[in-house]
Amino acid sequence: MSVYILAIESSCDDTSAAVLRDGEVLSNCVANQDAHRLYGGVVPEVASRAHQVNIIPVVDLALKKAGIRKEELSAVAFTRGPGLMGSLIVGVTFAKSFALSLGIPMIEVNHMQAHVLAHFAEAPKPAFPFLCLTVSGGHTQIVLVRTAMDLEVLGSTIDDAAGEAFDKTGKLLGLDYPAGPLIDKYAKEGKAVFPFPEPKIADLNFSFSGLKTSILYFLKRELKTNPNFIQENLNDICASVQSRIVSILLNKLKKAVEQTGVKEVAIAGGVSANSALRKGLQELGEQQGWEVYIPAFQFCTDNAGMIGVTGHFKYLAKDFVGQEVAAVPRWKIGADLNKS
Ligand code: KG4
Ligand code: ZN
Repeated sequence: MSVYILAIESSCDDTSAAVLRDGEVLSNCVANQDAHRLYGGVVPEVASRAHQVNIIPVVDLALKKAGIRKEELSAVAFTRGPGLMGSLIVGVTFAKSFALSLGIPMIEVNHMQAHVLAHFAEAPKPAFPFLCLTVSGGHTQIVLVRTAMDLEVLGSTIDDAAGEAFDKTGKLLGLDYPAGPLIDKYAKEGKAVFPFPEPKIADLNFSFSGLKTSILYFLKRELKTNPNFIQENLNDICASVQSRIVSILLNKLKKAVEQTGVKEVAIAGGVSANSALRKGLQELGEQQGWEVYIPAFQFCTDNAGMIGVTGHFKYLAKDFVGQEVAAVPRWKIGADLNKS
């Protein structure tokens, strides 16, 4: 008999639902929240209210697109954390009520583990062990993935995440939130002519706050002599910033491969949608003899498909949780919240 999983993701500003059959994603629907553009970032209270409005229509759509009735579902998988408390609560509460009313088990999913395991949504799938650089709006990590359930964070950011570096730069340039996709677009028309420094961090950790400060001072200096500096040089500024963020990420990844000897290398998270990172990893992989895995766009940014893929692994292990489960805004990959 086939296993049908309904997956729910509501950790930040996107409400998403997916349906999977035996680990294969049949539908993956996302309701984006445009409201945050006005504020230049995600406003938690606005996000949780929008999740409340969106969750039922999105689940309904995911079931319809998959051609599955809710009575056919085997389990409900949901993001328990990490993320914004108010946003998580909407998804967790929905999943609990849905599972209770159908009498089916619930599967808790760690959002960061799900970004990594998004690689199992479609072929080619990485072989274990592999390295995954997870780069999103809230996180930047290099993870050693020994098995689907045995993951170790080898390095992470000590200040801003890579996505934040894009978004905060965008704010300085007067771009809408989230600025990552816009910087990517403008960079395509520009050249990386402005030099921004690469931070010297000895281990596999990252730092992006120095880059942000150097961009701020650079812009202040240039705007003093030319008030139109940003408008006249937007493409080149974007190309320069993007090129530096990508080189910081790829240099660390190279170091992680040297340290571990693992040559299966993947990227995940919203920033893995960046065209320069995708191209740069492909080229570096060819040059270094790595097997490189780059997810399809729908599995890069926040989506319930990846929650379902992780949920399927846990379903096979019968790793279920009860109705007492509650959202957790902080949850490190690999930490078992149900063992004290
Ligand atoms: O994984 P994600 O959807 O949500 C979080 O869990 O944070 O990542 C969102 C982040 C934002 O910072 C956004 O600017 C960035 O991913 N992003 C990009 C691109 N598409 C999304 N950054 C650079 N280039 C892109 N094409
Ligand atoms: Zn995410």
